[in-house]
Amino acid sequence: MLLTPAPRIPQRAWPLGYQGIGALLSCPRHTDQRQAANGCFVGLGSQKRQPLGASRRQFWIPGAQARRLSLLVAIQPAPLAPRCPQERPPLLSVPGVGKTHHYYTTSPPAGVKCHVVDLRSDTVTLPSPEMRQAMAQAEVGDDDYREDPTVNELQRVVADLLGMEEALFVPSATMANLIAVMCHCHRRGAQVLLGKEAHIHIFEHGGVAEVAGVHSEALQDLPDGTMDLDELEHKIQQAQGNRYLPRPALICLENTHCSTGGRVVPLQYLQKVRQLAQQYSLRIHIDGARVLNAAVALGVPPRQIAQHCDSISLCLSKGVGAPAGALLAGARGFITEAWRVRKLLGGGMRQAGVLAAAALVGLHNVEETLKRDHDNARCFAQGASALASPLCSINLAAVETNILLMRTLTPWLTPSTLCELMEAVSAEEVAATGQATSVRLFPWGKHCLRAVWHRDVSPHDTRLCGINERNVLNVTNEATRISVYRHENCRMLQRTHSNQPFNINQNG
Ligand SMILES: Cc1ncc(COP(=O)(O)O)c(C=O)c1O
Repeated sequence: MLLTPAPRIPQRAWPLGYQGIGALLSCPRHTDQRQAANGCFVGLGSQKRQPLGASRRQFWIPGAQARRLSLLVAIQPAPLAPRCPQERPPLLSVPGVGKTHHYYTTSPPAGVKCHVVDLRSDTVTLPSPEMRQAMAQAEVGDDDYREDPTVNELQRVVADLLGMEEALFVPSATMANLIAVMCHCHRRGAQVLLGKEAHIHIFEHGGVAEVAGVHSEALQDLPDGTMDLDELEHKIQQAQGNRYLPRPALICLENTHCSTGGRVVPLQYLQKVRQLAQQYSLRIHIDGARVLNAAVALGVPPRQIAQHCDSISLCLSKGVGAPAGALLAGARGFITEAWRVRKLLGGGMRQAGVLAAAALVGLHNVEETLKRDHDNARCFAQGASALASPLCSINLAAVETNILLMRTLTPWLTPSTLCELMEAVSAEEVAATGQATSVRLFPWGKHCLRAVWHRDVSPHDTRLCGINERNVLNVTNEATRISVYRHENCRMLQRTHSNQPFNINQNG
């Protein structure tokens, strides 16, 4: 078995744009793209796709890339040319032990129902029929004159829920956080202390610097979503009376903490940060986009969390399931100023009652919804962890709410590859059950991917996701073993040729 560079064929013959790689696989001579996608083992590395070899089905392994590439099937997201409904959609094949597995590269065959479970984020929910009805019937007015009764009602409900004097409806949680920073930091150049992984710090486009003129001191986040208290105090102390350092004015916390996988910040920790802030006359803002998840996980009313801060935001388009909006809650004087800043930022929304109405419906049964989301996430995590896959792991102890982070354990299986495989439809599943499941996950960092449960994902969907994950990991594991074996064969041949010693331990 020899690997030789295959002659290039013109790019247009491979509109799928796969990169040819790895193991020698037989597939028929391709004449068009659909046949091409059938029965060929193709590589990932979507960044550097090249045409596959044309005349014979032997793909050249560029030495150093071989291990990385010769593993899995590339599921090409770009659609193929339109096909007529009677035609079988193209398949990609992953070799397995004793059996080859096939995935549809586009949608499954016509007539087969594809059930999509979208776990990329809890922001993907669609308004329920009750929400739509409430939106249609909402009583509205000009909210800039404070005349929208539905917005006023929502603000009252949320202020009460969070135990704050008042709350203000704003278009997004990003704006709620920015308004909070602008209201707490009265001077340009004032300092806000927050975690390096805080949503405000990494995902809000540096609005606190660009818009508010505030300087961020970012501390290392701990795996449980907190910051080290000694380090926090040290930073504050350093700046006290020091004319060279920026003056801290605000501490921003996040609860639940998104980047660490929806971790719940403990109440005792909040209490300690509160004491520290009081000692040094600082304010505290909590990015509480998912504070209701935290409350449900802790089994306490949300106000028990909010009592430890001066202001808190709450997002309506996540666990609550509303189409848009957030609230910022705090003391009356703070909200008066927040109203002015919302105006400054262009966040006044006039007849916003249509949005507030959906949020009120979502809030009505939010506690049960979030409990169910958390149970689903845990149930999936337990199943996935029981697989004990060598390719992917989950820290069960870290699954506290609706977010789950999965860590890939091999450099060959990147998070985006695993996401693509989870989303692809298995031909075997279609043949066995007459239907298909496609699970959408989110690549989250170099070795991590994220799944988030929300009100549009049922326990049944969760079970389907578990089955899908088990299949994908099994298939991937088989493909990995085969490819490693073949790669070793290839090295063996190369070494034989150069009279070097070789050693093969892998077993096909
Ligand atoms: C922790 C946290 N804060 C704030 C936001 C911003 O929310 P929005 O999209 O409503 O601006 C998000 C969004 O994902 C978030 O996860």
